[in-house]
Parts: sequence; structure tokens; C-alpha cells
Amino acid sequence: MADQFSYENKEMFCEDVKVTDIVRDVGTPAYIYSKASFVNAFREFDTAFSSVDHLVCYSLKANTNLNVCRIFYDAGSGIDCNSGGEFFRAMKAGVDPHRIVFTGVGKTEEEIRTVLQHPIIMLKAESLQELHLINAIAGELNVKAPVGIRVNPDVDAKTHPYISTGLSENKFGIDSSQAVHAFELAASLPNLRIVGIDMHIGSQITNAAPIIEACRKLAELATVLKSRGIALSHFDIGGGLGISYDRGKSTSPHELAKELLPILTGVGCKILFEPGRFLTARAGILATKVLYIKQNGKKNFIVVDAAMNDLLRPSLYKAFHEIKPVTQKSEGTIVADIVGPVCESGDFFAQGREIQKCEQGDLLAVMSAGAYSFVMSSNYNQRRRAPEVIVEGNKYYVVRERETYEDLVAKERLVTNLINPR
Ligand code: LLP
Repeated sequence: MADQFSYENKEMFCEDVKVTDIVRDVGTPAYIYSKASFVNAFREFDTAFSSVDHLVCYSLKANTNLNVCRIFYDAGSGIDCNSGGEFFRAMKAGVDPHRIVFTGVGKTEEEIRTVLQHPIIMLKAESLQELHLINAIAGELNVKAPVGIRVNPDVDAKTHPYISTGLSENKFGIDSSQAVHAFELAASLPNLRIVGIDMHIGSQITNAAPIIEACRKLAELATVLKSRGIALSHFDIGGGLGISYDRGKSTSPHELAKELLPILTGVGCKILFEPGRFLTARAGILATKVLYIKQNGKKNFIVVDAAMNDLLRPSLYKAFHEIKPVTQKSEGTIVADIVGPVCESGDFFAQGREIQKCEQGDLLAVMSAGAYSFVMSSNYNQRRRAPEVIVEGNKYYVVRERETYEDLVAKERLVTNLINPR
């Protein structure tokens, strides 16, 4: 898949638009996404599995912008929602609920009640108590709730511990030893209709082996269920396929499909996939401006105007993101920490990184910032959330504006009783 961020005459372009032109208009920091990159990644994933009956359900949590949701939907995707807020967004974007799956380890009564009023594919239960609650709410609403059960297959995804979800020590899913019991319970509850079985073992998985192993376990479980008279129509293998942030090797959808298809074709169900990162990460950059360059002790620091509140991944997971100059120069390189203005030493994008020598006012692009970037942003240090821009060919659209200072206090009130001396 061609990278949609490339240099022409030493200037970085997103598709056919100069990044500097966008920045001149919207300022920095700013998230800039390529529509072609979203669509190409979706097609790459979708066609890899074209030989089985399947639906790719874009995992909205990776990038929740309404337009991003709609771009995937228009490309043929379903949507995996993980909260009432994500469901609201999907509906706002015009997604047909027949293409929605609903996930979540701790769904509230309100969330369950809301989604059960729409014809979604399935609501995935993650505990026995949740099955009882869904049954009770479905009874009140006089509907048969389409349920799936998320099974924890106890497989090590070999990824960062914070985003590993498929080990029995993790909070997710129903322990595989209780899975048959959970399905039998679901089958006995009058207001439930069993639709599928589900797993999701973790994120940023760059080697297919754990996904294959978990799928095999899930397929065996489906066979056991069938022998007990429990038929499934959907088999959901979750998301998790990683990307190469550092140009190292990462399994492609095609390579994954080669190993998975023999298992998937045997289960006799419609296969659901929930990729998030694979579809979005490479489609975005976080553009930022160099504010200051300085030396403390033996260390060089490049202070930029984006911070951990805009892109938390390096601070939270020590995640690697490439950082490239928006305008290439030929004045050699320096080794520096690239840091933001937030008052925490954990506020960095890179440490000890070799980067082109830069000056105050230069623009840098933090690469692969299309997934888990804006969505994990915050107003910490009362920083306004940055705008989001989508490029299509030689046009670009501001799809979310930069927040204003007024936005920061919009939900607050100065309460007279609290602050006036009585
Ligand atoms: N399905 C379920 C049930 C999930 O929990 C997730 C991600 C996905 C699908 C999509 O996974 P993906 O294909 O994007 O790996 N903030 C972390 C990633 C957290 C992922 C949470 N669940 C990061 O920045 O790396």
C-alpha cells in the first residue's frame, strides 16, 4: 500500500496537498489524515478474506471522527462500538445498525437498553451476570436480544501488557473453562437469541501466531457447542492486527489470511473482524511546530507545540512513532529528546532520537498518528484539543475545529453559594 505521506521537492505532501499549506490554514498542532489511506487499508484487509462470508467491522475506538466512521461505512465496513458514546457517533454518522456489533467489558444498563432498541448484529456479553441483565432488559423491552459471548481464550498476544487482553489473568471475556456453561445459560434464558462467539486477544499484534492459536481454540469450542445443540451464525475474531511503526516486519492481512482461512472456512459461520489500528494508524500524522531547541546537561531537547495530551502513546506505552521533518533540509542530524510543553517529564514523543537538525518554527510530523491519538487526547494543562483534517486528492477538509478557550469552561459554572463569603 502506497504511503500517502511522501516528499516532493523536499516538501511533505498528504496525497496531493502540501502539509505546510494545511498548517498555514489550521495552525499546529493538527491531526492530518488521508482518506485514500483509510480506504486502501480497508480494501487490503477486506480482499484478503474475500473467499469467506465475512464483514469487517471497523473498531471505532481507534479514530472516532464522524467522517472517518462514514468513510469506512461507505467503503463497505460495519462498525464495532465499545460504548454508548461510540454507538451514538456511529448512528450520527448514518451507520445502519444491521452492521453494528457492540462490545464492552462493563456495559451499563443504559447502554444495553439503548442498543437493544436497534437491530444490531449482536451484543457481546462478557460475564454470566451480564447475560442475566441483558435478558431482563430485553424482557422489559419485549425483544429477543441478539447476543454473542466473548470468550477469553487464554492466549498470550505477545504485545504491550496494557493492550494484551486474551490471557486468563486479564479482565476481558468469559474464562474458556466456563464458556460452554455460559452458552448453555444463554440458551436457557427466554429473551436471548444466541448469535455468535467472539474473542479479542490484544492490540498491535505483529506476529500472526497468537491470533491463529486463539482462533483454533475458539473454533474447537464452536464445534463442542454445536454438538450440544447450540448453533452459531457469527464467529468474531476481534481486531488486533498491528502495523510497523518502526519499519520492522509486521504480518499483513494477506499473510494472516493465508494461515487463518483454513480454520475460518471450517466453522460454517459468517466471520466478523474488528480491526481498528490497521485501518487507521498509517493514515494520519500529528503536525507540530518546533518552539525551542536547547541543551540541558549533555542532552538536546527539541520542544514542540504538541504534547502528551495530543498523543499519549509514547508516554503511556513507550510506543515508538517515527518523527519526520515536514520540509527536508540537508544540514545534518542531531540526537535529541522531542518533548511537549506539558509540565511532566513523561511528556515526550521520542527520547535520544536522531533527527534532522531543525530550527525554531520548523514543522515536524509525528507519523502513524491516525489511530489511538486524537481519541486518547485530553485537556490536561488546559490545552485545547487540536483540529482534525482529512485530505482527499488535492482538497482538504477541517472535520473538527481546534477547541477554543471558551470550550474549556463550557460545562462549568461559578456557583455563587460556593465562592461568595456568607
Ligand atoms: N475489538 C475489541 C474488542 C477491542 O478491544 C479492540 C481494541 C479492537 C477490536 C481493535 O483493536 P486494534 O485492531 O485497533 O488493535 N490505546 C492502545 C490500543 C488499545 C486497543 C483497545 N482495544 C494503543 O494506543 O496502542
